[in-house]
This record gives sequence, C-alpha cells and structure tokens, in this order.
Amino acid sequence: MGDSTEDQRLVSPIELNETEVGQDQNQEQSLRPSFMGEYIGQKKVKENLSLFMEAARKRGDALDHVLLAGPPGLGKTTLAHIIAHEMGTQIHTVTGPNVDKKGDLAAILTNLQPKDVLFIDEVHRLQKTIEEVLYGAMEDYKLDLIIGQGPAARTLRIDLPKFTLVGATTRTGLLSSPLRDRFGVQLRLDFYPVEELEKIVYRSAQLLEIQIDPSGASEIAKRSRGTPRIANRLLKRVRDYAQVRGPNASGQPRIDRAIAQAALALFEVDHRGLDPMDRKFLAALIQKFDGGPTGIETLSSALGEERDTLEDVYEPYLIQEGFLQRTPRGRVATRLAYDHLGEIWEAKV
Ligand code: ADE
Repeated sequence: MGDSTEDQRLVSPIELNETEVGQDQNQEQSLRPSFMGEYIGQKKVKENLSLFMEAARKRGDALDHVLLAGPPGLGKTTLAHIIAHEMGTQIHTVTGPNVDKKGDLAAILTNLQPKDVLFIDEVHRLQKTIEEVLYGAMEDYKLDLIIGQGPAARTLRIDLPKFTLVGATTRTGLLSSPLRDRFGVQLRLDFYPVEELEKIVYRSAQLLEIQIDPSGASEIAKRSRGTPRIANRLLKRVRDYAQVRGPNASGQPRIDRAIAQAALALFEVDHRGLDPMDRKFLAALIQKFDGGPTGIETLSSALGEERDTLEDVYEPYLIQEGFLQRTPRGRVATRLAYDHLGEIWEAKV
C-alpha cells in the first residue's frame, strides 16, 4: 500500500512489514494460533476445513485447493498455516503481485513435496499469464513449460506432486472465474463479534504477559473493527499507555476500562472503533457530496487514497456497521453516519 495514510493507521488491518516495526511483526507471528482448536471464532469455516482435512487425511490424500475470502486482518494467513500444520506438511508462501515471471512459479511448484501447501496471498492480483500456468497445475498437477523460441520451441510437460493451493483474497468478485472455479473449497471469513474479540484479546494478553481485566478487554474488543489483527495491535499500544500513564505506572501495568478508554481516546479511536481515516471518509461524503450518492473514483480523489484501499479496507466495516450504503449510483452516508459524526464533533467542542 505504498506510503499512503493506510500505513500510519493504528487501526490498520494491513500487516506491518518487517522494516517498519520488527518487534511487532514477530509478536504478530507468535500470537497466531497453530491449531484449529486454538483458533477463536469463524465457526463455520473451522468446521468445514476440519471436516475436509480429516477426510483427506483418512484417504492419505492432499486437501483440495482452498480459497479464503474476506477483509484483511481476519486470519486468512493464520488458517493457511494451520492447514499445513494439521496436515503435517510444509507451507510455501508467495504474494500474487510478487510472482511476476512464469519461471518463478515453475521453480516454486517443482520444489513442492506431496500434500504441501502453496499459500498465495492476494491471489486476485496474479498476472493473467501466471494464472494460466496455474490452471493446469491445479487441475492435473502438470506444468507445461515452453522451452526455446520460434520454430525450435517445444513444450515440456512436468509432473507435479499433488499439492494444496490455498489462495487468499479480499474479494471473490476480483478473481477471474476460471481461477475461482478451480478451488474445490471456497470459504468466507466475516468480521468477528465483540465476544470473540474479547477472547482473542485475553489470549494475546496471556501470551504477552499483559495484565488486563474483563472491562479493559471488552473496551479494546469493542473498538477493534471486528478484526483480530487490530485488537492485538490496540492491546499492545494500550499496554504502552498503561505502562507510562497508568495509576501504578511504576509497577506492573494493568489494563482496565478507564485506562483503555483514555488510551484509545488519545489514539483517536472512537467508541465505535472508527479512527480518523474512517471519520474522514464519512465526513468527506457528507460535507463535500451532501451525503452521496457519490462514485468511488470521486471519493478516491477527494481523499487521496487508492480505490482498492477504500473498497477493501475502509468500506466493508463501515457498511457492516450501517454507516455507509453501496448503491448502484454510488456511496451514500446513512443517518447513523450523520448521528455518529455529530456526536464525536459535539464531544470535541
Ligand atoms: N489471533 C488472531 N486471530 C485469532 C483467532 N481467530 N483466534 C485466536 N487467536 C487469534
């Protein structure tokens, strides 16, 4: 996402990359559950995957290809790792836009062991030519390579081991239908309800040895935009706040409701979990375009944010929470958006 405002958002569901915050990145990895039993929420997805994995294991077969769809930060990568772990195999990870040569893909595919997981994140961003190589690999476990050029060119057919492709995408609609059809298992992850996020916050607090009481966990969960990655990030930042400004800052920091509320107010995350960028989105729609309907391209230039980022990152939660409607004529701010912004602005004056 380049150096857009998205990278600076405390509530960004986009994973931080290593050069930005090395320590947080490692902690983000270590908070990931390794087994389905430890994974909180997404009941249907877990049930389905566990069933298909058990059946594949009983047959001594590889799991069929799996497509995981849903907004960023909900645990698609975590599930891919769990699949490999529970199938007793290795995972190989690539990102759609980073596979730019057929040779790269061929190298990855020919290095796989039987039943291994090839995880392709942002699978909707694969180039068309690369996608075409994948079709045969997914369907017949064969790789057709063209060697040489012109009249001397010939095709070489390589047998591949039976592997499992796990693809992750923010929106299934962005995937070409030939690619989508080749995934035998297609599952959608939804935003987490507050009660599940509370459990995730507790689990992470335990792993990170952070003292937290139920009211503190509930406050963080409520403001995490239904997203575990955000919940974990807020937990760490609230811990920092408690350490410096907590009532017993000299001793072991403890997160309670008051501390969580004060910290999150400082970070400008409001009681509905909206951050300055979410509010800027709604405010632009209301103040510049009279509440809409407004086209996404127009909003994209008004906000200086890429259309894809608006659609993948900001809109899903605003729509789910009823702040925004997507209509054939464009985006429309709801009554709730007006009321919410009114409330926040009033509190500030
Ligand atoms: N950490 C991040 N997502 C999680 C989940 N769904 N369950 C448990 N821990 C998590």
